[in-house]
Amino acid sequence: MHELRGALSEGELEVGSAKQIMGEEKMIRALRAKASSRQGIDKEEILWILDQEDPALIDEISSVANGLREDLVGNQACIHGIIEFSNFCRRNCMYCGLRVGNNGLKRYRLSADEIVETAEAAVRDYGYKMFVLQSGEDLDYSTDDLVDIVKRIFDSTKTLIFLSIGERDITTYRKLYLAGARGVLFRFETSSLELYSKMHPGVSHKERLKHLKFLKETGYIVATGPIVGLRGQTRETYADDITMIRDSGALMVSFGPFIPHPDTPLADSPVIDPAEVRKFIIALRLAMPRIRIPVTTAMEHLWGDDFRKVALRSGANSFMLNLTPAGVRENYDIYPGKNIQPGHVHTLETFDCVMGIMKECGMELCRGFGLEFELTEEVFSVGCSMDDR
Ligand code: 5AD
Ligand code: SF4
Repeated sequence: MHELRGALSEGELEVGSAKQIMGEEKMIRALRAKASSRQGIDKEEILWILDQEDPALIDEISSVANGLREDLVGNQACIHGIIEFSNFCRRNCMYCGLRVGNNGLKRYRLSADEIVETAEAAVRDYGYKMFVLQSGEDLDYSTDDLVDIVKRIFDSTKTLIFLSIGERDITTYRKLYLAGARGVLFRFETSSLELYSKMHPGVSHKERLKHLKFLKETGYIVATGPIVGLRGQTRETYADDITMIRDSGALMVSFGPFIPHPDTPLADSPVIDPAEVRKFIIALRLAMPRIRIPVTTAMEHLWGDDFRKVALRSGANSFMLNLTPAGVRENYDIYPGKNIQPGHVHTLETFDCVMGIMKECGMELCRGFGLEFELTEEVFSVGCSMDDR
């Protein structure tokens, strides 16, 4: 086979590349047609996008994704605030600095009062309307504790509360919904069963997906997705990840690049190329035209403000800023130095910087659904970020 390839004449090679160009043009036409009819692309097209290497071609597909975002969800970007209230975790995920096996980490747990005060201050001082309450899988907070926290935040702020607390039983999630939580950030981490088992010893992929299903059925706005850049993932896996997000009924994506942590078994693993993450964002937008795509903290951490712009121009439409109190946030060490870089911690400077990036990309901060809390899928997909300050 290799010999045959080597024996191709120049003329044959030209015919080959002309065919390739014709194939590319045909595919771009197909992507444009689907975008203009607001139809999501399928797995074959997703895979084709992920396989492209030519920067000019990727720019072209990116502008189709950006146009679709503008057409369907407008030129507005949202900011979600994230409060990391405990770094205790009972799990031992191979990639994560919070894993129970990491004895070197200083652990913390915020009290209910501290969590509620942090959220209320962010609403009062900065105008936040959406929070993610995140922790490791910390069963020290009972169902009643969590219900109390959610209820107090919801009653006093009427904000959109996302939970990112991992696997808890269905009754807990139901009670939290009734208390006022309306969203969950719950990554399936990878669509590959084999890789999932390697990364999460003794934990079931099936159980993970079962959770995702019941969370959707309970009525939560679901944000899900993979961690990308783990050894063993391929473009085929990523295409499956994207179709898995689509099939889960998620209204928002939560995905990010893996960053090696020195105190984990994956300390020496390499980091994914940002170009791959950009193609992932493009494919997400084209596969799920209305979905919310945040530029997550790991992307900013690795590649800074430039990547924030690239991501926004490739179909992303939201940000995450960190609201965890100083003094503990340094210990939310999922990957090294996560909350030490100022870039994604909420300060006036970061806020201005994010606003500047939006402006440069032709977007503005979404001013949201007003003071009344009436959340429909439609309202969520077009907005709900912050009060005007
Ligand atoms: N690098 C990047 N993301 C990580 N996560 C955990 N460890 C890492 C790491 N080393 C992600 C997981 C988890 C989310 C809270 O953080 O995907 O779902
Ligand atoms: Fe715990 Fe989540 Fe880290 Fe896994 S990824 S160890 S569940 S905090």
